Amino acid sequence: MLEKMIEERTAEIAVIGLGYIGLPTAIMFANAGFRVIGYEIREKVVEKINSGKAHIIEPEIDELLRKAIESGNLKATSNPEEIREKDVYIICVQTPLKEDKTPNLSYLESAVETVAKAMKKGSLIIIESTVPPLTTVKMAELIEAITGLKPGEDFYMVHAPERVMPGRIFKELIYNSRIFGGITPESAELAEKLYRSFVKGQTFKTNSTVSEVVKLMENTFRDVNIALANEFAFLAHQYGINVFEAIELANTHPRVKIHVPGIGVGGHCLPKDPHLLVWPAKEDFGLIKLAREINDSMPLFTKDLLFEALRTINLPPEEAVVVILGLAYKGNSDDTRNSPAFAFMDAINEEVKEVRTYDPFVKGTHESIEDAVKGADAIVIATDHTAFKSLDWEELGKLMRNRILIDGRHIVEDPPKGFIFKGLGRGEY
Ligand SMILES: NC(=O)c1ccc[n+]([C@@H]2O[C@H](COP(=O)([O-])OP(=O)(O)OC[C@H]3O[C@@H](n4cnc5c(N)ncnc54)[C@H](O)[C@@H]3O)[C@@H](O)[C@H]2O)c1
Repeated sequence: MLEKMIEERTAEIAVIGLGYIGLPTAIMFANAGFRVIGYEIREKVVEKINSGKAHIIEPEIDELLRKAIESGNLKATSNPEEIREKDVYIICVQTPLKEDKTPNLSYLESAVETVAKAMKKGSLIIIESTVPPLTTVKMAELIEAITGLKPGEDFYMVHAPERVMPGRIFKELIYNSRIFGGITPESAELAEKLYRSFVKGQTFKTNSTVSEVVKLMENTFRDVNIALANEFAFLAHQYGINVFEAIELANTHPRVKIHVPGIGVGGHCLPKDPHLLVWPAKEDFGLIKLAREINDSMPLFTKDLLFEALRTINLPPEEAVVVILGLAYKGNSDDTRNSPAFAFMDAINEEVKEVRTYDPFVKGTHESIEDAVKGADAIVIATDHTAFKSLDWEELGKLMRNRILIDGRHIVEDPPKGFIFKGLGRGEY
């Protein structure tokens, strides 16, 4: 019956958690013709969405959200009563780490409990959140404990990991390939049919533990490779070379693809997913943990570059005014979660006179770059926003007391005249 409702697009969907992943997903299903209700615990977010405005910055989102709201297919709510007896529940809540780097699954458990209380026999429950291996099966058991319904017999359950990148979410939702890991083959089959309503990329079916591991391996692969690139950057400083030139040349080899070094790895996913991958395992995994440590050390390495530059002009750190350019963890985004800019700020905060910030995408930073750099001694680039690439450094330098430029993101190709320049991985200067 659910299969037919999916084909006819009469299945009713509840999306739990309307953040970077949940809101675009809810919009896609609504615009594909399904009736979608978004359940979100932050009431301000609900109000904003219902007024047709997105609370996150993402290309195309305002237009697509307006279309979904105006068609009557999408509505947001904070009232759990409004998500009762839906055919499909898609859980998109955050799965962060605790202070001790172990997973904080409290948001997921609370979302699963909400779903268990609202669902009916025959519902399809999909977890899009990134979770440690074996979690989907455990969440199915939690639902059974609350409802008495048998997983795979009385309800369907799937892990359908999300692989989109902020800034390209709506394109990638359509064109990325997707994996549907069911607790039973029928569960995966139904989820695949559902997402086929808008996904044009390839789709694959497997079991839920494989799909959990696949998602975590993808981000761990990237994290470990970034750590390797960062280690190459350290070496470049030892040997007095530009690591970016070396990487470009090495990457002309047909089977080599070295990643990009930088001030650190941020965002909701990369810093945590390697921890989620190894957490349930019985043994310790050295390479994955070491890669995390290397990437976490990059803000401190950037601090060393700054302090080295301050020494060359004999300016004690406690007299220095430092401007951090970019707080977002990635270019052209407002997302500051786990941004290495903050780790860098924490590393220098107590030791310098003043830290100022400027990020055109992030509220609460200086209004203009000119305002931020006036009378400052050093600028540290922490985000590769496109706008930073065309800055007139020499003009900005005229507003500064001392002219130090530290590039943590390889934004500046040629060191500007009159500046003491140090680039991460740029050992030649
Ligand atoms: N952001 C990304 O680029 C990305 C990419 C791939 C995968 N993921 C994964 O997707 C998941 C969601 O990430 P996100 O970036 O959308 O997180 P987010 O923090 O932007 O959104 C989560 C939302 O869920 C809400 N929420 C929390 N608990 C709730 C509950 N019990 N009931 C209802 N709403 C609740 C929060 O208020 C928030 O609005 C995570 O597991 C993440 O690892 C994220």
